[in-house]
Amino acid sequence: MLSLTKKTGLRPIAASFIALAALTFSAGFGIAHAADDALPKIPNKKPLRVGFAQTESNNPWRLAETRSFKEIASKCGWQMVMTDANSSAAKQVADIQSMIAQHVDLLVFPPREEKPLVPVIMQAKKAGIPVILVDRNVDQSMAKAGKDYITFIGSDFIDQGQRAADWLIKATNGKATIIELEGSTGASAANDRKKGFDEVIAKNPGMKIVASQSGDFARDKGRQVMETLLQAHPDVTAVYAHNDEMALGAIAAIKAAGKQPGKDIQIVTIDGTKGGLEAIKAGELGASVQSSPFFGPLACDVAQKYAKGETIPPWVKVSDRFYDKSNVDASMQYGY
Ligand code: AHR
Repeated sequence: MLSLTKKTGLRPIAASFIALAALTFSAGFGIAHAADDALPKIPNKKPLRVGFAQTESNNPWRLAETRSFKEIASKCGWQMVMTDANSSAAKQVADIQSMIAQHVDLLVFPPREEKPLVPVIMQAKKAGIPVILVDRNVDQSMAKAGKDYITFIGSDFIDQGQRAADWLIKATNGKATIIELEGSTGASAANDRKKGFDEVIAKNPGMKIVASQSGDFARDKGRQVMETLLQAHPDVTAVYAHNDEMALGAIAAIKAAGKQPGKDIQIVTIDGTKGGLEAIKAGELGASVQSSPFFGPLACDVAQKYAKGETIPPWVKVSDRFYDKSNVDASMQYGY
């Protein structure tokens, strides 16, 4: 203030007015900036209207995930608004935009793909609706957990891919010709499961991935892709599928080609569905890394803690089991 009086030669009263105006101006920006940047709060009311936008419902994993939200809803005081995007990221975007227009109190969803769902996260934030991502994450260079949305609750997909590779290396004594069946293109689950697996395999000269193609996490697509790739690579000795459903599709294709899954061709996968565990029991599937779909209770817990003002980490990591013939009998209870 003194220096402002000296510099401008204004009388203290005028200087203080200018200083106050400047302060208000900059603080105004500061406040507006902070408010823009702050994550929206979860309102303290019951029931809380919670939007859950599912990606698709064409496999047991997705059905189990949806069920876990339906089951937790009344216990958590949530009134669910649920949609199903039928395997379309564009539809999932539209579903979430409609939930924003309905002013739900909280949005929880698995982004089908890493990039297309980023704008709706930003739109929700702008509309004052908090977001929790479950199962899959978005591209962290475009939107950040803890800044643009509360948190990501989910497995470490890179680690899942690494564990699948470790098992396959042991099961094949470090020598295999591999077909990889990828999940949905652009999904964090597919990108990271591929990264984790491929990096470990690349360090083993006896292991070679001869083909890698998307089966969209779907059983019949997995079967079709496997059928085609088997014709191009009849010498294949191993399959890594990014989920159990595609592995089960691959098993059908292998049998149709007159080969024995689990003997002529070793198969490793991810999910731990009932069908996957039964295939391990039958000796057709070698191993499955669990990927838990039961996000309902976790999301409820995180939302309640966040509403109370507790600090939530940007990634609430889910730890996963591992199934092979050594523990499958004792693990059937975990299948879904
Ligand atoms: O994002 C998780 C994956 O998506 C599961 O492995 C798969 O089954 C699902 O469709």
